Amino acid sequence: MLSFTRTRTQQRSNRSMSLGGMDYADPKKKNGFCGKILMVSTLTALCILMLKQSPSFNTPSQFSRHEPGVTHVLVTGGAGYIGSHAALRLLKDSYRVTIVDNLSRGNLGAINVLQQLFPEPGRLQFIYADLGDAKAVHRIFSANAFDAVMHFAAVAYVGESTLDPLKYYHNITSNTLVVLEAMAAHGVKTLIYSSTCATYGEPEKMPITEETPQLPINPYGKAKKMAEDIILDFHKNSEMAVMILRYFNVIGSDPEGRLGEAPRPELREHGRISGACFDAARGIIPGLKVRGTDYKTPDGTCIRDYIDVTDLVDAHVKALEKAKPGHVGIYNVGTGRGRSVKEFVEACKKATGVPIKVDFLPRRPGDYAEVFSDPTKIKNELNWTAKHTDLLESLRIAWRWQKAHRNGYSTPLVMSA
Ligand SMILES: NC(=O)c1ccc[n+]([C@@H]2O[C@H](COP(=O)([O-])OP(=O)(O)OC[C@H]3O[C@@H](n4cnc5c(N)ncnc54)[C@H](O)[C@@H]3O)[C@@H](O)[C@H]2O)c1
Repeated sequence: MLSFTRTRTQQRSNRSMSLGGMDYADPKKKNGFCGKILMVSTLTALCILMLKQSPSFNTPSQFSRHEPGVTHVLVTGGAGYIGSHAALRLLKDSYRVTIVDNLSRGNLGAINVLQQLFPEPGRLQFIYADLGDAKAVHRIFSANAFDAVMHFAAVAYVGESTLDPLKYYHNITSNTLVVLEAMAAHGVKTLIYSSTCATYGEPEKMPITEETPQLPINPYGKAKKMAEDIILDFHKNSEMAVMILRYFNVIGSDPEGRLGEAPRPELREHGRISGACFDAARGIIPGLKVRGTDYKTPDGTCIRDYIDVTDLVDAHVKALEKAKPGHVGIYNVGTGRGRSVKEFVEACKKATGVPIKVDFLPRRPGDYAEVFSDPTKIKNELNWTAKHTDLLESLRIAWRWQKAHRNGYSTPLVMSA
């Protein structure tokens, strides 16, 4: 069941209509006022009667009580790219899911897809709320019996973070504090936190292990590192089970074509490489701008570790299953293999079949030359390894969804062969 719940702090645009809309009595009648009162009272009594007869009247929502054998996961940012894929996987694995999202960057269309796939009562609810609103967050935790939180919600563009750092510290660091406080106050004992390889900055030694010093060089990475520090400090005196997953560059989409990556058009300029490649292939932008060709890498372009979203959400489920009270696990989630931007662009040309025009430009502030993971720890401790490591195949799958959803989630199109 999808219940589109509105938190109390949001405006109710139709509030003034509720009585005014019943202005049915003839105003010329002398006894119109009494008639109105009588009619309103009768209708109110009828409504109460109908509500009382409704089977759900005295039954608290399934989301508000713990149920043996059912794990209820709060997925923040579940209308976004990674969060929606994680919610799909959790629902497929029989978890109960509550998504909280302010739709600032996510898509209601993704929620609709999940709703259509899992319409049964007690499976999925969506709550439209901003995590910066601490009162609303506490109300959500009071009304729902969460067993675990996967905290995805965040603004997540390196370039944007250099232009608007305060937005990043607020949205990432301070909102994580709000979520953590609510978890502590309401006794929610498991947290899976979305962190990033951007917290490592530009280490001298590759590959990056979890022991690599964290010296972030842009506000996005710094805000995530601060959020990690808050979680770790809190954890010292708590029995919370904490898993911090530091993702590398996420690509791909649901192999069955139900979900995809659909960032806001206005964020295109800050966007990630896969989005830009697809936009160029569809002619939405004239071509690709590869920023930086003089890095100390074999072909001069940046090197990144691209992790398929299907593998990434699998790592989350494994982290949730293995989370232990009082224990913190910190894991890199990557393939362990770096690919250059030039390599990526070539794969994108092949996947889309479009000879994308490429312009080579100077470096972008805040980018680092080479980043790839050492995924040994997550393999040893969570028994997780990346399986979808064929870059071309990941891009083909993502392109199929992009081609069928030219306007993101708003207007699905029938795919051409
Ligand atoms: N995409 C990547 O390559 C990548 C890499 C490393 C880490 N991450 C992390 O993964 C997480 C998800 O990233 P994504 O790529 O899916 O981004 P996304 O923008 O697609 O999704 C983020 C979601 O969070 C929601 N949100 C943002 N601020 C909110 C707020 N204040 N209250 C409620 N909802 C809010 C947005 O509306 C959106 O639905 C982020 O924490 C990001 O830092 C992503």
